[in-house]
Amino acid sequence: MSFIKRTEEYVTKVINECGYEIDNVALEPSSRRDLGEFQINACMMLAKKYGVNPRELAEKIISHFDDRFLNVNIAGPGFINMSFNEKYLVEYFNESINNFDNLIDKQEEKTIIVDYGGANAAKALHVGHMRTANIGESLKRLAKALGNKVIGDVHLGDLGRQSGMVISEIKKRKPELCYFDPNYKGEYPKLEITPEELAVYYPTASAAAKEDPERMEEVRKITALVDEGKEPYFGMWKDIVEVSRKTIKETYDYLNCNFDLWEGELSSLKYIEPTLEILKPYMYESDGAQVIDVKKDDDKVDIPPLIVIKNDGSTIYATRDLATIYNRVKTYDPDEIWYVVDVRQGMYFEQVFRASYKSGLVRSDVNLAHYWNGTMNGKDGKPFKTRDGGVLELNSLLNQVKNELYKKLEKYTDENEKKDILDILTVATVKYADLLPYRTTDYIFDIEKFCSFDGKTGPYILYTMVRINSILEKAKINECNINKIYSGTERSIYIKLLEISRMLEKSYNEKTLSYICEYLFEVCSLFNKFYGETNILNESDESKKINYISMLKLIYNTCKELLDILAIKIPNKM
Ligand code: ARG
Repeated sequence: MSFIKRTEEYVTKVINECGYEIDNVALEPSSRRDLGEFQINACMMLAKKYGVNPRELAEKIISHFDDRFLNVNIAGPGFINMSFNEKYLVEYFNESINNFDNLIDKQEEKTIIVDYGGANAAKALHVGHMRTANIGESLKRLAKALGNKVIGDVHLGDLGRQSGMVISEIKKRKPELCYFDPNYKGEYPKLEITPEELAVYYPTASAAAKEDPERMEEVRKITALVDEGKEPYFGMWKDIVEVSRKTIKETYDYLNCNFDLWEGELSSLKYIEPTLEILKPYMYESDGAQVIDVKKDDDKVDIPPLIVIKNDGSTIYATRDLATIYNRVKTYDPDEIWYVVDVRQGMYFEQVFRASYKSGLVRSDVNLAHYWNGTMNGKDGKPFKTRDGGVLELNSLLNQVKNELYKKLEKYTDENEKKDILDILTVATVKYADLLPYRTTDYIFDIEKFCSFDGKTGPYILYTMVRINSILEKAKINECNINKIYSGTERSIYIKLLEISRMLEKSYNEKTLSYICEYLFEVCSLFNKFYGETNILNESDESKKINYISMLKLIYNTCKELLDILAIKIPNKM
């Protein structure tokens, strides 16, 4: 349990023992640092409740405090300001050097499914896919770090127009294949297709179908057959998805996005029937389609009915999301399902959630939530595009960043070491830049800024980590002992570390990683200040040196855990 929380429990106990009832007193970083490091603001509220003078009440409370606080004073109408006694601080941090859990507060365990990534099979990942993958991965890790049971699912977009596109392209290029022979009587073999072929098939077919209505009609027909599960197309499509999934996984792996489940629209088909069974009493016909009303009396905008079955009898994106919910509830009994998906699907998820609650597909106490993200824009403020106006593939963006960083690494390492470092650094650069803005804020992709070794960037954070690590290696001190704080900067570092639990709680409550990014920057800046002021390795006082080194270990270990939540690795060298 965090130091702040322990202290809050202590203060609550003291106040209760003074005869005032209060559930939970909050300790806030002081707004008047000259008066103390932390403050308690509860006295005003309590005084009102008990009809007493707030300053007198505060006096009474502080007279019962033990020696854990220093310089306790009362300001204004009854703010209690104080600092912590060093003895207790060092003891706590000494216990925390290799114990991140001692710095944070765990939550009551919940089961959470995080639906993120959402790549579409047979299509390349483009830049728009990156942020939901990064945010989803990190929210998953954050929820896990705070003690929840979390399951990440990519929810692959593996049904839809792209099946018809790719198969029509195969038909065009290889009409001799048995799948296209109406007289073929044997068993259909596994479709042979390479990732390279797949990469060109979809864009080629898509461009051709746009120009040619006949081709589009063929695509539509094949898509419908796949959706209905008709062979040989359904089997071909499954083989295509398998190849595509491997390619998609490579990019996600590169970004340290690891999904527990690779379910998707295709795998949800098996649950359509029981799902419709549950939805049936709430569905009615409208223009030939089967829909569910989801509007509520107090809606400020018009929420149209959710289409569950199209007028041609086929299922759609929504049907598969509902079937997926059915399976998730049945298999995992989750307390929450988070959808980290583009803002443009906001209305859609509202409809799906309402239909799910209304029909009893999920219990009302299960939290279905859409945590959408802002977009990454180009310098013109519009969604990032290639020079000719097309959508930029995610791999090209990653390569651009890699090339920029390559130039900077030239002076640091030799060619062999460079490759590994470069990959770690590339991922850190894009992830930090992607997670630093508040989740719902758009941001501008500025490659020079993001790759800089100065400022709020991935490279700056990693550079600091590598610096700490190199000092630790040179020092060769195994003994850990924090028993004294020597300078104001050191004290600022420790006080900053006290804020970690509150910071993580805020990140979790608002589902944004921005606070963690900011926090890492603050800790690194404080460390670099300390580094500039202190000759750590040449310190002749052995016990002082052990204190320094132990603090460095504490900082390194703590930041490593936070970087792990951001899914950023630390290189050994840089
Ligand atoms: N594949 C979808 C898309 O590209 C995103 C999937 C989001 N998740 C979901 N359960 N619908 O728009």
